[in-house]
Amino acid sequence: MGKGQKLSLITTPIYYINGDPHIGHAYASISADILARFKRFDGFRVHFCTGTDEHGIKVARSAEKAGIEVREFSDLMSQKFRDMGRTINLSEDDFIRTTESRHIRSAQVLWKRLEKDIYKSSYSGWYSARDEEYVAENEIVDGKAPSGAPVEWMEEESYFFRLSAYQDKLLDYYEKNPDFIAPIARRNEVVNFVKSGLKDLSISRSKFDWGIQIPGCEQHVMYVWIDALANYITSLGFPDNEEYVSEMMANCVHIVGKEILRFHAVYWPAFLMSAGVTLPKRVFAHGWWTHDGQKMSKSVGNVVDPFETIKEYGVDQLRYFLFREVRFGEDGDFSEDALKNRISYDLANDLGNLVQRVLAFIQKLDGCLTTNYDFSSEERALFANARSLIQKVRPLMEKQDLHSALGTVWDLVSESNKFVNDMKPWELAKTDPERLNAVLTVLCECIRAITFGIAPFMPDTAKKIFDFINTEGRLFTEIDCNFVDQKFLTPIPLFPKDRK
Ligand code: MSP
Repeated sequence: MGKGQKLSLITTPIYYINGDPHIGHAYASISADILARFKRFDGFRVHFCTGTDEHGIKVARSAEKAGIEVREFSDLMSQKFRDMGRTINLSEDDFIRTTESRHIRSAQVLWKRLEKDIYKSSYSGWYSARDEEYVAENEIVDGKAPSGAPVEWMEEESYFFRLSAYQDKLLDYYEKNPDFIAPIARRNEVVNFVKSGLKDLSISRSKFDWGIQIPGCEQHVMYVWIDALANYITSLGFPDNEEYVSEMMANCVHIVGKEILRFHAVYWPAFLMSAGVTLPKRVFAHGWWTHDGQKMSKSVGNVVDPFETIKEYGVDQLRYFLFREVRFGEDGDFSEDALKNRISYDLANDLGNLVQRVLAFIQKLDGCLTTNYDFSSEERALFANARSLIQKVRPLMEKQDLHSALGTVWDLVSESNKFVNDMKPWELAKTDPERLNAVLTVLCECIRAITFGIAPFMPDTAKKIFDFINTEGRLFTEIDCNFVDQKFLTPIPLFPKDRK
């Protein structure tokens, strides 16, 4: 391990493979990708993992319905999520499948570590296969799970995890680590849930066999959530190299949807405490997208397909929209009109024109900025804003406030455009080429800072701009190099109106 290098572990949920990837999955993955890319730019050693959650009754039934043997079905479906990664430009370091032998071993070792808190009893109660979740009697609404999923009665012998023994320890942990769960409203929900009393958790199933076998017991497979949560440490190499696992976990941010926060903020830390593995630093729960005001569902046929949307509008366009349109953590509504508006106003008009205008003017100076000018106070102020952009964005990214981070970058885009309008470079070109040189130097600083700011969000666009301005663009420390005597390239439009 590079001694002294700061570490960062970023995770997405691993996706159930009972259906095709949709925009909700893309959203979770892109958010984590943005955080991972930001940390890499910031000099961290990052491990960014994603993957597929392949066991459990839900997947087994989907395979049966499709008339395909479950292993073959898993290979086929898991590949679609890998493909989604390529389409959304995911920079994962590891794609993990829960059917891989490294994971089976890891989950079984985790189970062994939990054994002091495990006992055998019998379970009877409601289960929602769609959510892969036990549903308490008092949570049933109109005969359904709180998510609206159907429930079925389950009665079987089962192993239990002594979750009740962790109630006080968890509450104590939440209190000592106020930033462990975010956003704050979600944190409060979790704390209240734990305060209301924790029951022991059934953690094995014996009525089907599509799962990881419990060590030393042929009749039972693990409850899919123990299996699934273990993926995070499998990806780090658990049970080998535990020092690395601990260090990474201490610097881990789990990105999860709001409906699976309980698993990550209650069950997972309890398992880790029991197993003696370091707890993650933070669990961030994001909201859900609807489509034109309606919940997305296969039966309604209104699921937004990330592949189609990207084909039509472009990957960076979608990546930008998802995090600019809605505050990360809140629910949002997807509409094509809103997406088109963001592309045409924020991207083509604001960012695209800024880059185009400034770089086209530099071409008039033979593609070079020649002198360091004695800046006016206004120019100095804008220059300083550009240089401090990442300092302003960093604390926002630390809180996963992706929305404000983009807003902060766009403030500089607006300021820069205003500066262009005020300074009228098209006039300076005729009257005062030296001044033009100074104005363009400041604007280039702004463009470079903006490009670093957008790079985690829109990697392809950033790459194009970095190429225009001849900048390497690998680390934020490269933000303040010198432009003098450097060759700029002729820009081509970043967001052409007739793309399609
Ligand atoms: N397999 C579990 C996670 C195990 S993690 C150890 C799972 N998978 S899932 O495929 O059902 O969901 C994965 C993620 O997609 C969740 O974080 C969920 O919130 C997200 N989304 C699914 N539909 C969504 C929307 N409509 N909008 C936003 N995100 C949503 O749960």
